[in-house]
Amino acid sequence: RVLRGRPRDLAGRKVVVSAGGTREAIDPVRYIGNRSSGLQGYALARTAAARGAEVTLVAANVTLPDPAGAKVARVESAAELRDAVLAASADADVVVMAAAVADFRPATRHDAKIKKTDGEPEAIHLVKNPDILAELGERRRHEPGPRVIVGFAAETHDVLANGQAKLARKGCDLLVVNQVGEGLAFGTPDNAATVLVAGGEPVEVPFGPKEDLADAIWDLVAVRLS
Ligand code: CTP
Ligand code: CA
Repeated sequence: RVLRGRPRDLAGRKVVVSAGGTREAIDPVRYIGNRSSGLQGYALARTAAARGAEVTLVAANVTLPDPAGAKVARVESAAELRDAVLAASADADVVVMAAAVADFRPATRHDAKIKKTDGEPEAIHLVKNPDILAELGERRRHEPGPRVIVGFAAETHDVLANGQAKLARKGCDLLVVNQVGEGLAFGTPDNAATVLVAGGEPVEVPFGPKEDLADAIWDLVAVRLS
């Protein structure tokens, strides 16, 4: 589908978008994953390209076709996603972390498939993954970095209060807050969100196509770039 009628207000801008959900290996055949489809991140990549941006899309386990005009890097784990995002962010104007990054990974990855045994299975010990968004925000305090950093937050309760705390904690400029659960957001073509703006008023985006939410996000990004 060709996207028409958009401003070319991101022309000459380099943007990085992460999409999908990371997988953390348990053994060669099993992983810990999440329900992210990548639809919102792909809509962001597509609309940014239509608005003239040079787009790098870092896609974690997404089964959608490559968006027109974007350079796509495919990754699996949070560690791989971190390497790809940080590398692409070095000279980027904007980074949007739409990917669902696993907070934890198994402490050890078994080289061989874990076999069913007579007794109960061993527990899987988890360790924390690096927080890529927080790292981008922190780095920017000491060295030149992306002018605009955008995070996403999936919350099941106290959506706005949790979102405001997260915006401050992550040091990002915009935080797109979705309510999740009860069939909302995951894998569906529509979404609604509140975009929290550092130093500004929140912007409500009504329920509609994920492309509309993407354009609303780029509108706010374009204002901060100009
Ligand atoms: N994120 C990240 N690296 C992680 C975890 C999350 O970069 N290890 C990013 C996500 O891509 C998203 C934002 O941080 O843009 C918020 O993710 P979310 O899961 O809502 O927040 P967390 O800080 O992980 O807190 P919690 O899951 O406990 O609510
Ligand atoms: Ca999380």
